[in-house]
Amino acid sequence: MQIKPQSEALGIPLMTEEAAVRREAVPMNILIVDDEQSIRETCATVSEQSGMKAIAVATAEEALEVLEHSAIDILLTDLKLQRTSGVELLKQVHGQHPEVAVVVLTQYGTIESALEVTRLGAVDYVTKPFLIEELRSRLERVSRAVELQQENRLLREQLRTRPGFGGLIGVSMKMQRVYKIIEKVSQHEYPVLILGESGTGKELVARSIHFSGPRKDHPFAPVDCSALVPTLIESELFGYVKGAFTGAMQAKQGLLEAAQGGTLFLDEIGDMPVDLQAKLLRALQEREVKPVGSTERRQINVRIIAATNRDLDAAIRSGTFRQDLYFRLNVVQVKLPPLRDRKSDIPILVTAFLEKFSNPQGPVRTISEDAMRRLIAYDWPGNVRELENAIERAVALGSGPILHVADLPSNLQYPTTERIPEKDEILPLEELERRAILRTLRETGGDKLSAARMLGIGKTTLYRKLKQYHMDHSEQ
Ligand SMILES: Nc1ncnc2c1ncn2[C@@H]1O[C@H](COP(=O)(O)OP(=O)(O)OP(=O)(O)O)[C@@H](O)[C@H]1O
Ligand SMILES: [Mg+2]
Repeated sequence: MQIKPQSEALGIPLMTEEAAVRREAVPMNILIVDDEQSIRETCATVSEQSGMKAIAVATAEEALEVLEHSAIDILLTDLKLQRTSGVELLKQVHGQHPEVAVVVLTQYGTIESALEVTRLGAVDYVTKPFLIEELRSRLERVSRAVELQQENRLLREQLRTRPGFGGLIGVSMKMQRVYKIIEKVSQHEYPVLILGESGTGKELVARSIHFSGPRKDHPFAPVDCSALVPTLIESELFGYVKGAFTGAMQAKQGLLEAAQGGTLFLDEIGDMPVDLQAKLLRALQEREVKPVGSTERRQINVRIIAATNRDLDAAIRSGTFRQDLYFRLNVVQVKLPPLRDRKSDIPILVTAFLEKFSNPQGPVRTISEDAMRRLIAYDWPGNVRELENAIERAVALGSGPILHVADLPSNLQYPTTERIPEKDEILPLEELERRAILRTLRETGGDKLSAARMLGIGKTTLYRKLKQYHMDHSEQ
């Protein structure tokens, strides 16, 4: 099947990678409140260098005014302000703008512990006098945490508004192409052959095709060709008449007939014995079945969808799969990409599985940035099924609202596949950094959010570095 270029309107209200990148391009808004002009200016400069948009004011009253009218993400405020104090400001912000992350600026010795900061409703603090670098790293850290929260919220929204393709989740271009094929083929009668590694969602795609098409009110009958006892496949598929063999006390309808009007899903078709393949082919061509022990043929009207994780070309070459059956089944082919080739789908899949496995009475769990980075970096040989199992297990084992690296399966906690550098050459640190960014962006298909996660830096830091290395318009 010919796939049109990405630019073609998909007609699917999903967030494209382009949109994901566009979303990233929106800078964080930081509101700085301090009565000292020089501090305001320094903080604004540092924030802007980190890719944020800064607004600086001198009083709590002005700050509340700004908060009322602009979308502020981070509030950096001194605790000692004229008239209304910083503490009072924090109380009001907490009540009226709970989504704003607060960082307090304090005189050395004012705040004794991180606990006190939390009590004030702040996420972090910086003590005056501060070093520029310290302020920068604090702000970037907070900005990363805010990004993560906003990302979680967005992913959830996306999950709720995504169109239903039988539970298929994924926003990558590769998956959008799959949705497009499903949308088209579901309206037709052609046989479909679904190829893909184990756990990539072949059965889910088969169901989506059936349930979005005109046969949706008729049966969807899956047959696992690898699990059937070879001697019984024939009677299972075609049925038998009473007395056809010892023990056949009653006639039984075969699966082909039971799926009448609907779809027969031949799963693991590559595992079907070769002699049966010929019989299946005949039934499909003639659109009729002859139950075992019967001389009578019965008309069948079923749509065929087949799936396998085997390399059917190789099977044909080695004589274990009939080429004529292959031609019959392979009218439209859907190739499901392995998860490692569409890593930008990992965050939304994780969000979906967190929702799925969280206790409905309790809060939905979220995942730490570090843990998400491990999930994105891992290669997922078992694809979506393996990811789903990993999240299910992590939710069962983790205790708090946030899942951490320690809750993940051990092969993700201690990755054994440390990447070996392409060449063992000594390079300036900046060049190494530039190359690392470039490679990661290639790996994530240009998805900057995933790239930032894999690199262990915030999106704003990544943007700053892209700018620094003049990579913000080219090379990806
Ligand atoms: N895109 C997806 N979105 C949501 N869930 C998915 C997706 N792909 C796979 N899954 C989930 O992963 C699991 C495996 O999917 P499925 O059984 O369809 O894979 P498969 O390709 O048929 O694997 P196998 O070859 O091992 O039979 C299921 O629980 C399914 O719900
Ligand atoms: Mg399957």
